[in-house]
Amino acid sequence: MCGIVGYIGDRDAYDVLIKGLRRLEYRGYDSAGLSLMPRAGELNCYKTRGKVAELERYAQDKDKSGTLGIAHTRWATHGEPNDINAHPHYSQSGDLSMIHNGIIENYVTLRTKLEQVGYTFKSTTDSEVVVNLIEYIRNTMGLDLCSSVQHALNQVVGAYAIAVIDRNDPNLLIGARKSSPLVVGVGENEFFLASDATPIVEYTNKVVYLDDEQIVLLRRGEEMKIVDLSNVVVTPEIHELTLDLSVLEKGGYPHFMLKEIYEQSRTIQDCIRGRVNSEGTEVILSGVSQNRDKFMAAGRIIFVACGTSWHAALIGKQMIEEFCRIPAYVEYASEFRYRNPVINEDDIVIAISQSGETADTLAAVELAKQKKAFVYGICNVVGSSIARATHSGSYIHVGPEVGVASTKAFTGQVTTLAMLTITIAKERGTISDERYVQMIKSLQQLPQQMDVVLKQREKIEELSKIFTYANNFIYLGRGYNYPVALEGALKLKEISYIHAEGYPAAEMKHGPIALIDAEMPVVAIATSDSIYEKTISNIQEIKARSGRVLALVSEGDNQIGNIVDYVIEVPTTDEFLMPILSSIPLQLLAYFIAVNKGRDVDRPRNLAKSVTVE
Ligand code: M6R
Repeated sequence: MCGIVGYIGDRDAYDVLIKGLRRLEYRGYDSAGLSLMPRAGELNCYKTRGKVAELERYAQDKDKSGTLGIAHTRWATHGEPNDINAHPHYSQSGDLSMIHNGIIENYVTLRTKLEQVGYTFKSTTDSEVVVNLIEYIRNTMGLDLCSSVQHALNQVVGAYAIAVIDRNDPNLLIGARKSSPLVVGVGENEFFLASDATPIVEYTNKVVYLDDEQIVLLRRGEEMKIVDLSNVVVTPEIHELTLDLSVLEKGGYPHFMLKEIYEQSRTIQDCIRGRVNSEGTEVILSGVSQNRDKFMAAGRIIFVACGTSWHAALIGKQMIEEFCRIPAYVEYASEFRYRNPVINEDDIVIAISQSGETADTLAAVELAKQKKAFVYGICNVVGSSIARATHSGSYIHVGPEVGVASTKAFTGQVTTLAMLTITIAKERGTISDERYVQMIKSLQQLPQQMDVVLKQREKIEELSKIFTYANNFIYLGRGYNYPVALEGALKLKEISYIHAEGYPAAEMKHGPIALIDAEMPVVAIATSDSIYEKTISNIQEIKARSGRVLALVSEGDNQIGNIVDYVIEVPTTDEFLMPILSSIPLQLLAYFIAVNKGRDVDRPRNLAKSVTVE
C-alpha cells in the first residue's frame, strides 16, 4: 500500500526520492507525489494521479533542487485517486508538508473541529486533517514542530506512518509511526526514511525500525533522536541489513513474478539451510527449541493470516493435525480480530505473513497477546512489524518478493510449516524415528524436484493459450491439494482478472457442478496421494458433463491422461509436501494467461503488495 520515502543530506533529494518511489512501486498505488525544499522559505510540491513515470514527466521542467524532501505513492482509501488527494498535503499556511500511510479513523471529528476554527480543506483525505492539526497545535500552543506532532498524534485514532517537513526549517525531517511501518536509514551525514528498507539499501545498510508511537527527529549534522508520544527519549537500535541490491532487480526476466517463480528452487534451499543438519537427520527450528515447553503443552494451534498466507495456513493445519496430533484451526485475521474468539493461555497462535505488515494479521497478533496466548510469527520480511510483535518465530528466508502475486513466499511458508511440523512431531513423539528421517529426506529433495517442474514452462505456456479466452475457471483439489486449488484460483484472479473459484473436489456435486459445461475450464490437482481414486471419481463427474479438464498429475500417471483433456506432470514427493510442487505449474499458468491478456502482471489493478490498512 502507500509508500513513503524521505531524505535529508547532501545529495539531490529528487533523485533519491524518485528512485525510492520506484523501489516501492511493488506495494501498489494509484497516485504519486513529492515535496522538495530548495532553500529556507520555499517548498515545491509535485503530485499526480498515475504512476511514478507520470510524476517524473510532470516534474520534468520544474525546479527539482533541494537536499531535503519527502515523497509518496498513494493507494486510495479516503477519497478517490486524483491529483488533489495525492500526497504530499500542505497545512493551511503552506508551511508544513506531510505524507501519510494508514487510516485516521476519527478524521471526521478532527476535521469538523478544525473547520470550526477556520481551517479549510482542499482534499477529501484523512491525511490532510493531520497536517492541519499539527499546524493548529503549533500556532495555538506555541510549540516546536516535534512537540506539535506529538500532541497531534495523541489526538489521532488509527494507523499512521508520517513524514513532515517545515519550509522554515530546511534542516529537519520528522517521521512517526503507529501500526504502519517506517524505517530510518542512517548514512554519513544523511538520513533516509522509508516504508521498508528497499529504497534505503542502495545507500546504507544501517537501519532503525521505528516502533509504534515513536517519533524520529532527523536533523542535518546531528545524531537522530527518537521520542515516544509521552516524550520519553528512546535509544535507537541500529540493525545491519543483509539485503543484496540485485534481488530488487528483474535480472533479465520480463516480470518480477516470473523471476520469483524461477527462484523457488534456490529460495527453498535458503529456507531449509541451517535448519536441517548436514547429515540430513535432524531439523532444528530455534523458535521451537527455545520454546519447547509451549509446544509440548499446546492445547490448540490457531493460524491467523490473509490471502495466500491463509492458504499456506490451511496446509499447516493439516500437517499439524496429521503429524503432531494437536487440534489446529485457521482463521482469517480480519474476522478473528473482531469476533471475540476463545483463546486460551495454552493456545499457540501462529501468524503467517510474507510482508509482516498486514494490518489485520498484526491486529490479530495483538489480540492473541492480550489474551495471553503464545504467539509465533512466520514472516519473510526481517524486522517487520509482525516479526517484532510476536513472541518468537521463524523467517521463511526467501528474499524480497516484489511481484504483487505471492509465489516464492507461498512455497517458503509451506516449507517452513513442514519444518515446524516435523520438529514439533518429533518433540511430542507423535511420529516414529523412521518417519522423521523419511520426512527430512523428502524435504531435502524438493529443490531438485522444483527444477524439474520449472522445466515445463514451454508446455504450460502453450496450454495457457488454449485457456486465455475463458471468463471463468474452477480449480479442484482434495486434502493437501485443496488449499493449492484455492491458491491457483487466487493467482489467476489477481493477475489476469478472470473469475476463478477453488473447491474441494467432492463439494462440486453439492452445487457448483451446475456451472460445468464445455466453456468452463476445470483445473484438477490429482497427484498420487491417499485420496487419488476419490479425486478421479470427481473428475469423471466433471467429464460426464462435458467439462474441459486440465489435470495436474504425478509423473508416470497413465490413468488420468485417458480421462482428461490436458495433463501436466509433477514429480512425486511425500503427500504433505505436495503443495510445494503442485502450486508451481498453477503459478506459471496464471502468469502466462495474464501475459497473453496483456495484464500488468507485477502491479495488477486495485491491489497492493503490503496491505497496511484494514
Ligand atoms: O504479506 P501477507 O502475507 O500478510 O499478505 C497477505 C495477502 O495480502 C497476500 O497474500 C495477497 O493475497 C497476495 N496478493 C496473494 O498473491
